[in-house]
Amino acid sequence: MSIAPNEKEEHIVWHQHLIDKTFRATLKKQKPVVLWFTGLSGAGKSTVAGALENRLAQLGYHTYLLDGDNVRHGLCRDLGFSAQDRRENIRRIGELAKLMADAGLIVLSAFISPHRTERQMVRELLPEGEFLEVFVNTSLEVCEQRDPKGLYKKARAGEITNFTGIDAEYEMPLQPEIDLPAGEKGIDALVEQCLTELNQRGIIDTSAH
Ligand code: ADX
Repeated sequence: MSIAPNEKEEHIVWHQHLIDKTFRATLKKQKPVVLWFTGLSGAGKSTVAGALENRLAQLGYHTYLLDGDNVRHGLCRDLGFSAQDRRENIRRIGELAKLMADAGLIVLSAFISPHRTERQMVRELLPEGEFLEVFVNTSLEVCEQRDPKGLYKKARAGEITNFTGIDAEYEMPLQPEIDLPAGEKGIDALVEQCLTELNQRGIIDTSAH
């Protein structure tokens, strides 16, 4: 028997009322948050976010890691690196991160996200305290020296244009919630710094595990 459209809608509305963000988060015994890692290419965003996600998962938290290079193979495969495309990239990721937080998850995102206005746009999508900007603070000099994908070399040779830090700007966060000295400290120390900060903000409770 087919369901009349209005009946079907009622059914969906009923579910949306009952199973809301608080319900989903409570079921997961956690507080949703978006940890927005920003920094230059090669700064260590994906590495730190991945290592932090490992620790959080071991502690029993439900997480999801959104990674620039991976998302650009799917959801954002139609976008390039012009200022306009980067803005659209961040807008989509922001909306996605918001949905994932709505699902009750601890979301970790690792995108260069070079412009303050776009990071602010994502911050404003979320309730106060649910967006934490994590600055993976590694100097251009160190990133270029590391050059894990050989992209800086190509950018210097003019084979890649609009490359962040070379011929496209990166606007440093002015007041990031977490500022990681990722050019100087090792991965374990950086993950500890993040965990301490999350504890202090009451987002996680490592003493309970
Ligand atoms: S963002 O600026 O739109 O936030 P995103 O984090 O998604 O960038 O993608 C950055 C990754 O794309 C880099 O780590 C690098 O591997 C690759 N990449 C390719 N071309 C560029 C470019 N012109 N500028 C920066 N990164 C680039």
